[in-house]
Amino acid sequence: MTLVLSIIFVLLTRSLDGSLFDPDTSNYDAYGLKVAANDNLIVEALNDYQQFYIQFAPYSSNVVQSTNLFCAIDFNASSQYIYAVAIGKNQSSSQLYFFFVGELTNIEEDEYLNRTFVGMLSYTDNITLSNATVVDCDQFQYDVNYITSPHPHQEYLTLAVDPLGLAAYGFSNNFSFSYDVESQNLSWWPGSSFWPNSTFMPHAVDCREEYGVVAGFVDNGQNSRIKFSPFVYLFDMTVSTAPTVLSSWTYTVTGTWQAGQTNAGADQYAAKYDMSVAINTIGQVLVGIQSMNSVFLFSTNGTTMTLVTWRDNGRSLGFGKGVAWLGFTDIQIIGGLRIGLSGTGEEEEDMILKDLEFYQPFNLSDNILAQNVEVTMQITKVVNETIALIGDESKLSDEKKSEKETSPYDRLEQSVDEFEAFPVPTV
Ligand SMILES: *[C@@H]1O[C@H](CO)[C@@H](O)[C@H](O)[C@H]1NC(C)=O
Ligand SMILES: *[C@@H]1O[C@H](CO)[C@@H](O)[C@H](O)[C@H]1NC(C)=O
Ligand SMILES: *[C@@H]1O[C@H](CO)[C@@H](O)[C@H](O)[C@H]1NC(C)=O
Ligand SMILES: *[C@@H]1O[C@H](CO)[C@@H](O)[C@H](O)[C@H]1NC(C)=O
Ligand SMILES: *[C@@H]1O[C@H](CO)[C@@H](O)[C@H](O)[C@H]1NC(C)=O
Ligand SMILES: *[C@@H]1O[C@H](CO)[C@@H](O)[C@H](O)[C@H]1NC(C)=O
Ligand SMILES: *[C@@H]1O[C@H](CO)[C@@H](O)[C@H](O)[C@H]1NC(C)=O
Ligand SMILES: *[C@@H]1O[C@H](CO)[C@@H](O)[C@H](O)[C@H]1NC(C)=O
Ligand SMILES: *[C@@H]1O[C@H](CO)[C@@H](O)[C@H](O)[C@H]1NC(C)=O
Ligand SMILES: *[C@@H]1O[C@H](CO)[C@@H](O)[C@H](O)[C@H]1NC(C)=O
Ligand SMILES: *[C@@H]1O[C@H](CO)[C@@H](O)[C@H](O)[C@H]1NC(C)=O
Repeated sequence: MTLVLSIIFVLLTRSLDGSLFDPDTSNYDAYGLKVAANDNLIVEALNDYQQFYIQFAPYSSNVVQSTNLFCAIDFNASSQYIYAVAIGKNQSSSQLYFFFVGELTNIEEDEYLNRTFVGMLSYTDNITLSNATVVDCDQFQYDVNYITSPHPHQEYLTLAVDPLGLAAYGFSNNFSFSYDVESQNLSWWPGSSFWPNSTFMPHAVDCREEYGVVAGFVDNGQNSRIKFSPFVYLFDMTVSTAPTVLSSWTYTVTGTWQAGQTNAGADQYAAKYDMSVAINTIGQVLVGIQSMNSVFLFSTNGTTMTLVTWRDNGRSLGFGKGVAWLGFTDIQIIGGLRIGLSGTGEEEEDMILKDLEFYQPFNLSDNILAQNVEVTMQITKVVNETIALIGDESKLSDEKKSEKETSPYDRLEQSVDEFEAFPVPTV
């Protein structure tokens, strides 16, 4: 009887807690990309400090030390939670601004309110970045607009900026929006009017001047075995009209371990369902789906999109968390670091633990810049694993203790070691 009562109590508190949007501000991995950069600015959103950190070019010295080219700017309002920041890859040195998107916290998730905001933060002073030695942090100016068409909480909000920084585009399940820099005009359209499937939740987006590619999940309904399926859409981009989906793709291979994944829970933010998209200047598109441990290469001419090839990295997770094109012809690869993670990975709520099997620096012998390259890896968590004496499930010592577990033969509880090492600059 007491057991039944306590279960009901737990369920009730869960559902009450879950209805307020109250994200963990200390988790820099949650809800979107918190860092964006181009040749002129590096910006970071720090929700736990309610500030943007902005570093101006040139990035010639350790950015932490060159404080005269650095500003910390308070968020526009303290109830704002920033999902993502973005900046045009090819903005000029006179376009010293970036974009952000977010939602107001601590309001009921299912109430229809004006809660999503889109903003631009600009540096308004007239400076020549190439020879500037100091910036005036009082010269930042906000333009923040709310989507004034009441909507419920959006668990996924994505943001992209066209390469020249002329407009920002955002997508969620309920709407898409565009923000035109010149007219400072925010426009939006209901998601039901353009997503091929109204349940589509965008997880990542990238865009060129005329088109963009968005990756996410479609909800197949409670009764399907596969709860959520990954989808990729190509759409056209204009500031003044709703996006039109021109081409779509989903994973149709059968018989692979990826095909059997149910993706249960993909409608709630979890790091393992992060996706990534990167388009290069010649219409090649990389889409990373880390829950499938796979990266897909598409080719597009702006009206059609076709799968060229794809690669997975074994039955695991994490490959495809981020993708990028090295588009600079003057970059020579002189070396790198290989890191090997092994095992199926112990899954916790939003974290996967793996054995660090090896790490190995490598260099190309003709291109050596320095003979002794010092690389220090930062370990954020070391977990002591206990191998079960009975049964085959091993136990990680930071798992919560279960009351049912009473057998003295089962497991030994051990301590968690948590430490952080200081990163040492390389070369
Ligand atoms: C950036 O813009 C300049 C002209 O504004 C152009 O010459 C250059 O090709 C562009 N680069 C990319 C990567 O789009
Ligand atoms: C910025 O500097 C340029 C060159 O020094 C000048 O032509 C321009 O008028 C200045 N703009 C403002 C707003 O002061
Ligand atoms: C920076 O460069 C601009 C244009 O090249 C020049 O007009 C200005 O005087 C320079 N400022 C400093 C502090 O050297
Ligand atoms: C917030 O942004 C608006 C512009 O949209 C600006 O007028 C206002 O001063 C900003 N407030 C703060 C506290 O930054
Ligand atoms: C949302 O914004 C619109 C336009 O400003 C306003 O008319 C409406 O009352 C707002 N709705 C809510 C629920 O705040
Ligand atoms: C927004 O989301 C709610 C809840 O999921 C849904 O009922 C509504 O139809 C959606 N509206 C649009 C325009 O997509
Ligand atoms: C701003 O956007 C609205 C809604 O899309 C549109 O009706 C209006 O013409 C736009 N204004 C400008 C100056 O672009
Ligand atoms: C779109 O979503 C609905 C509702 O969950 C689902 O039944 C349908 O199969 C989906 N369509 C596609 C093409 O996946
Ligand atoms: C893109 O390719 C398709 C199929 O080959 C073709 O029909 C279409 O006209 C092409 N679009 C452009 C803009 O080249
Ligand atoms: C770089 O390559 C050279 C030649 O292959 C090798 O002797 C050296 O140990 C390598 N250095 C590092 C840091 O890997
Ligand atoms: C893990 O636990 C065992 C047994 O208590 C201990 O001997 C070992 O030093 C621990 N390892 C780490 C890395 O804490």
